[in-house]
Formats: sequence, structure tokens, C-alpha cells
Amino acid sequence: MTYRMAAKFYDLFGSKNDLGFYKELAVRSRGKALELGVGTARVAIPLARAGVTVVGLDNSVHMLREAREKLAKESEDVRRRVIFRKGDMKDFELKQLFPFIYVPSSTFDHNITVKDQKRTLQCVYRHLEKAGVFAFDLEQVSPSKPEASWWIDRKETVGGKTVVRSIFTRRDRTKNKCSLNLFFEVYKNGKLLERYHEFGDVAIITKDEIVKMLEETGFKVISIYSSFDKSRYRKTSSKIVLVTERE
Ligand SMILES: C[S@@+](CC[C@H](N)C(=O)[O-])C[C@H]1O[C@@H](n2cnc3c(N)ncnc32)[C@H](O)[C@@H]1O
Repeated sequence: MTYRMAAKFYDLFGSKNDLGFYKELAVRSRGKALELGVGTARVAIPLARAGVTVVGLDNSVHMLREAREKLAKESEDVRRRVIFRKGDMKDFELKQLFPFIYVPSSTFDHNITVKDQKRTLQCVYRHLEKAGVFAFDLEQVSPSKPEASWWIDRKETVGGKTVVRSIFTRRDRTKNKCSLNLFFEVYKNGKLLERYHEFGDVAIITKDEIVKMLEETGFKVISIYSSFDKSRYRKTSSKIVLVTERE
């Protein structure tokens, strides 16, 4: 998924409850962090406002453009603390180590194949200080969930437009992936102005699979939660939230 169309609507639909969780870990890790799949800097900018220096890597020029426009509106102090890099999370070299690396919003699921998931973990490992912390979250698909689903939501923009987003998902159990189709329709005074379609696949990864991959790469799993309020992991929760440490 390139986020070519979704980038400009990402923040409009992007409110999440993960900020406090990632901020606490980043501040505790002596204030320097690397975010993989930084997107519009939804998390990176609040972390920088809290005093953390963040390097944000992303492979979408569209998302990075949104992020740069947002950062330009911040104070000089905050602007100095955020550095964007275009790159692929499964193949990058930043020539520096971090005490904290994080991957929010199920972005790790963009690694569709096990090979890509392992390559990303190896890149994280190479960029993490010894005893450094790596935290991320994945979607958890409960077997009782229907194979296909769809939902629609709408938001008003500051310019008085209405954006309607429709999401269609279909799971492919045999390939451990889920296909996503997103449609955005922009209305003003009831008249359709624009319509965009964005699509892509995300991986379905189980808790046992990710734990095995992490341990094989050299990470120690410290905590597994079912949500950002740190509630105990449950097989039925919609999220897997992991905190790990480089051994
Ligand atoms: C769901 S968004 C999350 C954005 C941001 N981290 C947040 O939490 O709001 C996923 C982001 O990951 C980026 N991405 C997907 N695959 C990537 C890859 N292989 N390497 C780097 N970035 C990637 C996308 O371009 C997008 O900006």
C-alpha cells in the first residue's frame, strides 16, 4: 500500500489510544527513538514535544510529505528533534544505534511474508543498543471473526467538507494475509467532489509466531498486552502489544 490517496486523510481518521504507551517508553529510554513507518508523524511529533529526539523512517513519499508539512508548524525546538528518512523497514542502514525503537498502528503487519518479517526484525536488532527496548503492536484476528467485513465512517474537515471512508477487508487463511480496500469520498454541500481508491495487503501474524521470530532474532519478550492500557494478553483481544529487549 503506497498511501498515495490515504495520506491526506490519515490524521482525520487516525485518532488512537496508543500515544501515552509509546511516550512513556520513549521518555524512559533516555529520550532518543527510531520509529519505523512514521507516517504523518502522528506519534513522532507528540514524542518530540515531550523532549524525545525521533528519527522517523517511512517508504511512502506521500506520508512523509504530510509529516513534513505538519512538522513545519511546530516550534523550532520540536522541529530540531524530528528527522525524517525515506526507507524500507526491512532494509535500512542509519549508521547509529537507538535505545528505543517502536512501530505503532500495526505497521509491522505491512511485512506480508515471514521472510520480510524476519528481515525487519534483523534491521531493528542491528539498530538497537544492547538492552535497548523494541515495542510494537499487531492486529490479532480471532478465528471467530467473519472472513470478510466492511465498515463506513465519516468526518468533517475544517474546510466544511465531509469525507466518507469505506473499508472492505477479506481474509485469506491459506496465505495468512488480509486484503484491504479503502474508498474515500469527499462531499461539499451534499455534492460528491472527489473519490479515491487505495488497496493493499497486510499479514496475519499470531502471538506464538511473533514470539518465536523475536526470540530467534535475539529479543527477549518482556511484556505482551492486549491493549495500550497494559491489560493482560488475551486470545480474543483485537491487539497484540509487545515490549521486548535486545539481549
Ligand atoms: C498505519 S500507518 C502508521 C503511521 C504512523 N506510524 C502512525 O502510527 O500513525 C503505516 C505506515 O507505514 C509505512 N510503511 C509501510 N510499509 C513500509 C516499509 N516497508 N518501510 C517503511 N515504511 C512502511 C506506510 O507508508 C505508512 O506511513
